[in-house]
Amino acid sequence: MEIKIAKESGFCFGVKKAVECAETMLADHPGETVYCLGELIHNPLVIADLESKGLICVDSIEDIPDEAILIIRAHGEPEETYKRAKEKKIKLFDSTCSCVRSIQKKARDYAAQGYTVFLVGKASHPEIVGIKGWVNEGEVIVVKNTEEATTLKHFEKSVVLAQTTLQNDQFMEVVQVLKEKTDSLIVENTICAATTKRQEEAEELSKICDTVLVLGSKKSSNTQKIYEICKKNCQNVQVLENSDERILEKFSTGGIIGIMTGASTPSWMMMEVVARMSEHENTTVDETTKTAVEPGTEAAQAMSESDAAAAAEEAANNEFMEAFEKTLVRIRNGQVLTGTVVQITDDEVCVNIGYKSDGFIPRSEFSDDPDVKLKDIVHEGDEIEVEVVKVNDGDGNVLLSHKRVLDKKAWDEFVEKADVEGQVFDATGKEVVKGGLITYIEGVRTFVPASQLSLRYVENLNDFIGQPLRLTILEIDRNKRRVVASQKKVLQEEESVKKKQIWESIHEGDIVKGIVRRLTDFGAFVDIGGIDGLVHVTEMAWGRVKHPSDIMKVGDEIDVIIKGLDPERERISLGYRELQPKPWASASERYPEGSVVEGKVVRLVPFGAFVSLEPTIDGLIHISQLDTSRVAKVEDVVKEGDIVKVKVLSVDPEAKRISLSRKEVLLDEMPPEEKAEAVAAENKSEDSQEESVEVPVAEAATATLAEFFPEMDESAEEKTEE
Ligand code: F3S
Repeated sequence: MEIKIAKESGFCFGVKKAVECAETMLADHPGETVYCLGELIHNPLVIADLESKGLICVDSIEDIPDEAILIIRAHGEPEETYKRAKEKKIKLFDSTCSCVRSIQKKARDYAAQGYTVFLVGKASHPEIVGIKGWVNEGEVIVVKNTEEATTLKHFEKSVVLAQTTLQNDQFMEVVQVLKEKTDSLIVENTICAATTKRQEEAEELSKICDTVLVLGSKKSSNTQKIYEICKKNCQNVQVLENSDERILEKFSTGGIIGIMTGASTPSWMMMEVVARMSEHENTTVDETTKTAVEPGTEAAQAMSESDAAAAAEEAANNEFMEAFEKTLVRIRNGQVLTGTVVQITDDEVCVNIGYKSDGFIPRSEFSDDPDVKLKDIVHEGDEIEVEVVKVNDGDGNVLLSHKRVLDKKAWDEFVEKADVEGQVFDATGKEVVKGGLITYIEGVRTFVPASQLSLRYVENLNDFIGQPLRLTILEIDRNKRRVVASQKKVLQEEESVKKKQIWESIHEGDIVKGIVRRLTDFGAFVDIGGIDGLVHVTEMAWGRVKHPSDIMKVGDEIDVIIKGLDPERERISLGYRELQPKPWASASERYPEGSVVEGKVVRLVPFGAFVSLEPTIDGLIHISQLDTSRVAKVEDVVKEGDIVKVKVLSVDPEAKRISLSRKEVLLDEMPPEEKAEAVAAENKSEDSQEESVEVPVAEAATATLAEFFPEMDESAEEKTEE
C-alpha cells in the first residue's frame, strides 16, 4: 500500500490564526469564559478541546454577557456586531481572515462608488452574511450558481466577488453569465490562495489515487469542495471526521491512498491517520509535489492578499513533514512498546525503547496517585509497556506514558464486562459536574446524569459524593472513551423484583404494616414494603372524615388491612378503620354520666346545639340545658365553633346518643347561695311554663332533626354510621 500525503494540509493560515488566538485568550484569562459567535472552526475535535478549556460558542451576541471576551472567527462578522460589542463593552479579538477582510472592504468600496456588487456564494454562509453586513449603501446581490445568474435583469456598472472557498470553475461559469447581464463587469476573483492551492492539489492527487481520504468536518464548505473535486476523478473518496481505527481498517487494503485535509483540520489529525495506516506491512509514505500557482493567473492575483501568511504556512508544513518522515519509520504517537527502565528520579522514569533517544515517563503518566514514590513501584531493569505520547516533546525527548497502557487494559477489560447484559458495577460518587456526577468504574471515568442517580428527583448532587453507587452501563462511546451509567436503572430493576415478590406474598384480608407516604383529598397512599396502596378517606375512620390529614400524617407507621388487590392495574385497596376500636362501643367508659368534658359546637338546631366530643361522636345540649336561666333561642347563648364545657347527662351507645348539659357545669361553678337562687328561679320559671315545651332530650335529637334539617340529618347519620 502506498500513502500519498497532500502537501497542503493542516490548518489554513486563517484558521490557524483563529485557533491560536483562542488558545492565547484562554491561557491569558484562566478561569474566564471566552466566547465565539458560531463555531470557531468546523472541526468538532478541536472545538471540544477548546470548549474544555473554557471556550463557549454562541449563536448571537445577545447571548454574551457585557464586558466578556469575544473572538471573531475567520469567517468575519457584519459591522453591526462590532457596534453592538462596543455598546456591551465586550473585549473583542478579531480573527477575521485577511482574505475575508479584503472582500468586505472591496464590497463596501465598490457599492459606495455606485457599482452593483455580485457575490458568488451561498447566501446563508456566515462569510457571505458578514460581507453583506459591511455594505451600507448601494446594492449587493448574492448569486449561488449560473441558474440564479441567468434570472437576473440587466445592470450597468457592476463588480463580481467570490466566496473564499468557492471552486474556481464554478466562479468563472457564473462570471460568464454575468458578463451577458451587464454593460461593464469588473471581475475580482477573491477565492483565497489556500483554497485554490488545496483544490488544485485535490484535482491532481485524485487522478492518481485509488482512494482519497479527505480529513475534515462534513459541515466545512472547504472540505466539501475538496471532496467534490476528488469525486470527479476518483470513485472511492471518503470524508473522515476522526482517525477511528476501525474506519481506517477499511482503507488499508492496498493500492494508492491519497490523504488530504480541509482548512479546519489540524495537522496532528493527519499525522494520526498516517501513523495508523502506516502500521500495516509494506506501506510506504510519500508527500505529493507542491502545487504550482502560475504567475499572472487570477489565482496568483488573489494570493497577493495572503502571500506572506501562505508562505509561512507552507514552511511550517514542510518542517512538519520532514520531522514526521524522520520518525515515522521507527516510532509513532500512540504506539505501544516494551522498554527497559534505565533511570528513576523523583519526577520521572527514563526508559530505553530502542529508539535513537530514550523516552521519559513523567510521574503523572506513571500513576494517578500524586503521593506515590516512583522508586517504590518501579525499579531499574524492569521491563514495562509504554505508549508513545509524543515522538518529540519539543526538547528532542520521546514522551511516554505507562498509565495509558494500564488505562487501555483497564478499558478493554471494562468494555468486555460492560458488554455482559445486566452487569452491575460498584462505584463511589467522586465529583459533581454540570448535569450529573463523575465516578470511576474499575478505573474508567464514568458520567452519571442527575436524572439517572435515583428513582426520585435529586435536589443536591453533592449528597452523592463519597457515597456508594451501584451502576449499570447506559452508553459507551468507544472512540471517545466516554461512559454513561445509571443507578436509577439498577434501582428500577430491583424495585420491580421486590414488587413482584410483594404481590406474590400478599392476600386480601392480610394485616400489614405500612408508612404513610402521601395524602390527597381522597385518601392516603401507604407504602406496604415497596409498593403503595390506597386507604380511601371512607376507610379511615368509623365516622365521617373531612380530610385524611384529620386522621393521619405523612411518615406515620400504621397497620392496615388489605381489602382489595388488582394486579393488572397494580392497585391495592387498604382499610384502616377496621383495625380501630368502634368509638360508640366504649363511649360509656370514656364519657361516664356526670363527667365534665369539652367539645366544639358544630351545629345549632331550634331545640339545642350539637357538640363534637371527638371526630366521630357528637352529643346534644338540649335548649333546656344550655343556660341557668330560660333560653328563648339557642343562638342567644352559643354559636358554631364555640368550645364549651359540658356535663354528660346520659350515654346510650345502642342509639348512639349522648345528652349533655352546659347548665349543670355553670351551676356547679357558682357559689352555693348564687346557685340556690338560680335553681329557685329556674324552678319558678318551669312552673309557669306550659307542659308542651318539655321535650325529652333524646327524642328531640332524633325526631326534630330530620324535620327541620333533612340535609343535616343525613350527615349526622353518616357521622354515626358504622
Ligand atoms: Fe482564510 Fe482561506 Fe482559510 S479565506 S480562513 S485562508 S480558507
